[in-house]
Amino acid sequence: MLSYRHSYHAGNFADVLKHCVQLAIIEYLKKKDKPFCYHDTHSGAGGYVIASPEMQKNGEYQSGIAKLFGRSTGVDVIDHYAALIASLNTTGRLNSYPGSPQIALLAKRAIDRMQLTELHPADFSHLKQMLGNKKKVKAYQQDAWQGLKAMLPPAEKRGLVLIDPSYEVKQDYKTIVSSLQEAYKRFSSGIFAIWYPVLERDATEQFIRSLAQAGIRNMLRVEHCILPDDESGMTGSGMIVVNPPYTLKADMETALPVLGKLLNECGKGSFIIEQLTKE
Ligand SMILES: C[S@@+](CC[C@H](N)C(=O)[O-])C[C@H]1O[C@@H](n2cnc3c(N)ncnc32)[C@H](O)[C@@H]1O
Repeated sequence: MLSYRHSYHAGNFADVLKHCVQLAIIEYLKKKDKPFCYHDTHSGAGGYVIASPEMQKNGEYQSGIAKLFGRSTGVDVIDHYAALIASLNTTGRLNSYPGSPQIALLAKRAIDRMQLTELHPADFSHLKQMLGNKKKVKAYQQDAWQGLKAMLPPAEKRGLVLIDPSYEVKQDYKTIVSSLQEAYKRFSSGIFAIWYPVLERDATEQFIRSLAQAGIRNMLRVEHCILPDDESGMTGSGMIVVNPPYTLKADMETALPVLGKLLNECGKGSFIIEQLTKE
């Protein structure tokens, strides 16, 4: 039984990076009139309430979205994300934080489609409730890896696949590589965004190497650490983006130093932006 619940972590510094990148990709896909498909493999509960006991327990959002809420930075990637969070919190107080499904739901157009998988029964139930009964939006209580096999390629032939495991099952680090290889074979024009934590530097680099050696072209790595590697716990997080929008690298080069100023602990953070495999 899975015990990880994203409600304890929602809105933390890692969510800020992940959701900025997610939204930047969706905004890029919207530049063409053609519909796209948003596929979320590990959807979580969909959206979160700041006052809930889970979010209040460790208050992780305090070191993430709370530092950004209501601010304008002049950097599009960050300001679009902050504006979307503000649109959910119209009283001017931070009451709700969206999960990746709610971000996609708020950002997509009527022509775009969403397909989502989530295994945890309670989170799946919240997710269904948050999504409501909308056209072109469907959630399945199904295994993420099975879902990738069953649902790709999407009929639209363009879109974003967000892969955001909790890594509670250590095997996930290996499963991601083989699942990505298979999914990419079926949907090689798709944009894939894989989130990863930085918990222990050597293990992180080993995971990144295994992705870089998966035989997939055009992978971008975007990583933001709020603490140095020798601190304990999750010191940073990153995204590996396959077929990134051509603007993403430059956008993140502008955004990460600004995010760093807002979120880094004791001014000791760092970031990595690198083309991991050739275009
Ligand atoms: C990090 S959370 C997702 C957060 C969400 N993507 C967001 O940004 O708001 C990971 C989720 O994956 C779910 N999960 C873990 N293993 C899974 C699997 N094999 N298939 C589907 N869901 C899984 C967990 O229950 C958890 O809700």
